[in-house]
Amino acid sequence: MSFILQPANEDDLPELINIQLAAFADDPFYILLYHGRPNGPEVRQAVIEQTRSQWREDLTLRAVKCVDTSTSQIVGFASVRIVKDPDMATQAPAKDEGNDEKGAVKGNLKNQKLAVPFTDIKARIWVDGESYISFGVLAVHPTHQRRGLGTKLVQWGLKICDEAALPGYITASPAGADLYARLGFQRVGDVVNKASDFEGLTEDLVSVCMVYGTDEARLAGMRVRVAKTDGPTG
Ligand SMILES: CC(C)(COP(=O)(O)OP(=O)(O)OC[C@H]1O[C@@H](n2cnc3c(N)ncnc32)[C@H](O)[C@@H]1OP(=O)(O)O)[C@@H](O)C(=O)NCCC(=O)NCCS
Repeated sequence: MSFILQPANEDDLPELINIQLAAFADDPFYILLYHGRPNGPEVRQAVIEQTRSQWREDLTLRAVKCVDTSTSQIVGFASVRIVKDPDMATQAPAKDEGNDEKGAVKGNLKNQKLAVPFTDIKARIWVDGESYISFGVLAVHPTHQRRGLGTKLVQWGLKICDEAALPGYITASPAGADLYARLGFQRVGDVVNKASDFEGLTEDLVSVCMVYGTDEARLAGMRVRVAKTDGPTG
């Protein structure tokens, strides 16, 4: 069995989102955001639409799919985009579109509240108009994990960083953080969404902020700026 990476486009989105929602089915963020049913058809359709509009709006976005050459089946994907501080894509306030499953995807209050610590920590890490490559969703279908495909997909993004001579950035799930660390990302700090802020959440949600391709001095500065705050992150 062999696998190749190919550029992904909008026509692939239904398959890619199936993989994403299967891969993240047990992820506490997805469970919280999508009312415990990340695989529901409403959610699936809304995530397809949301991803399509993000891809159309951001001309720097590049996505890649991992294909099983024997079946032509897509089994994983990844995306990256170039961000110039400040990151307007994450700073635009989301509209409150209600608290149903579809509204949760599009940006309801819960969604906005979850996003605040992510935006906050990014603004402290990346200062002075720095550009970087932001790593987006990384997902390998559960039936194809632990065969090196996630590694292949992250290496694709790292090649883009190296060719553009730009650092990379990811807020990784604890499940994904080891993979990024093995490939050269370094931890700068954590994003924490407190359980006490969300009904039904029994444990804090922690994501790991990681940076690739920066020298030690710059990394130390980032860590100091993250550690200095009294905010929810750090
Ligand atoms: C995180 C994720 C993308 C990793 O994908 P993957 O294809 O399993 O990644 P890899 O196979 O390259 O590496 C995963 C593990 O398999 C191991 N592995 C790689 N090839 C292997 C092989 N042939 N045989 C056995 N193990 C192997 C790796 O060493 C690694 O081990 P570790 O976790 O103990 O360090 C995947 O688990 C996923 O989609 N998870 C859900 C979504 C998610 O958390 N995404 C990341 C958000 S930051």
